[in-house]
Amino acid sequence: MLIAGNWKMNGGVALLDELAAIAAKAADTPQVDVAIFPPFTLIAPAVAQAGTVIIGGQDCHQVAAGAYTGSTSASMLVDAGATQVLCGHSERRAGFGETNQMVRAKAETALAAGLHVVICVGENRADRDNRRAGHVVGAQLDGSVPPSGTAETMVVAYEPAWAIGSGRTPTAAEISGMHDLIRAKLIQILGEDGACVRILYGGSVSPANAAEILGIPDVDGALVGGASLTAADFVPIITAAANVSQ
Ligand code: 13P
Repeated sequence: MLIAGNWKMNGGVALLDELAAIAAKAADTPQVDVAIFPPFTLIAPAVAQAGTVIIGGQDCHQVAAGAYTGSTSASMLVDAGATQVLCGHSERRAGFGETNQMVRAKAETALAAGLHVVICVGENRADRDNRRAGHVVGAQLDGSVPPSGTAETMVVAYEPAWAIGSGRTPTAAEISGMHDLIRAKLIQILGEDGACVRILYGGSVSPANAAEILGIPDVDGALVGGASLTAADFVPIITAAANVSQ
């Protein structure tokens, strides 16, 4: 199981107190991998006190270096001590025009720099209502999974955009159905290795629903937004993962 927290554009140095409490829990829970994706400004200080918690970036540029004002390269993340990066989060796809092609290029650049990648996919509300969710997610995987990714270096996060920050989650059957589809597609793209790539669920995961969601077959962990901002909410999610892992 992997329990990952995406802090998005939240937090200053004071939020590192929460990381300290999360790191203490992670140290006590070796059967669960724990990751935090803080804003770029907090990566280096987060690494300094992360203990066993994996620290990653929320994005990187698809080009290795150059005149791209405001952007952060994969090797800069490595330099700051990060070991992973999110690629193609729905907020990047919708708000910053990231296409599947760009997401794949970012992932390839990140892998080449030595980072592990979390490829994010997920349909929006209209896709789900029009019964196009499977088609959309399948196309996102076809377009954005880097062929050089492996079960060791890559994770896929299924995050339906309509479930993010909304307090609404798909039913267990909907999550299970989509994870099955993602699994089949990963095997199609990567061959045998696709059977072992971890698939996370993300979107309004909370202490209240974590046990049920993490208990769904082929849910290998969670990508958590709002509930990762405090140890009080995030630690019970790690506990739920530990209980499922037993
Ligand atoms: P919430 O858990 O706040 O819905 O956010 C999910 C998410 O976008 C994680 O990347």
